[in-house]
Amino acid sequence: MMKIVLVGFMGSGKSTVGKILSKKLSIPFRDLDFIIVKNTGMSIPEIFQNKGETAFRELERSFLLSELSRKANFILSTGGGTPAYKDNMEKINQSGISIFLYADFETLYRRISGDKNRPLASLSKKELKKLYEKRLPFYKKALFTVNTAGKTPEEVTNEILSLIHGEKGKSNQ
Ligand code: S3P
Repeated sequence: MMKIVLVGFMGSGKSTVGKILSKKLSIPFRDLDFIIVKNTGMSIPEIFQNKGETAFRELERSFLLSELSRKANFILSTGGGTPAYKDNMEKINQSGISIFLYADFETLYRRISGDKNRPLASLSKKELKKLYEKRLPFYKKALFTVNTAGKTPEEVTNEILSLIHGEKGKSNQ
């Protein structure tokens, strides 16, 4: 079974890389945010505004657990906050191959500032940086880390492919 879970801060390229990886491996791509939106009929900003962040985290966790339990191959892109809630990261690591898409804060900030579809992107730069630093230890629990700085999504994908092939080799021994 090939279950790949991409983690990382907002703007780290989880969805972009996930889609390319999905094509190259011929494994379905699943996006946790999209699954939440589809199942609730609400946008992410609407959920944050109407129900609050904690309700969003609980929804996110329940959809995460149900995705992880699927008996199928998949590439799952998570939300930037998913690994930092309860024991989500442990659940991810028990179920699949986790990959942390690392980028430095300034790069991420450039990509996400002003994005209206990301409620937390409206935080001040200082607050966002604090959030980033708070989350790093959770992301670092991933099996693999890929530094995405200065790389195209294609290059990041190729790096992931070689990591995964190494992992398959290990499990065949
Ligand atoms: C969040 C990241 C978002 C989305 C929600 C909250 C976060 O996903 O889940 O807006 O807490 O960092 P992306 O990482 O895909 O932007």
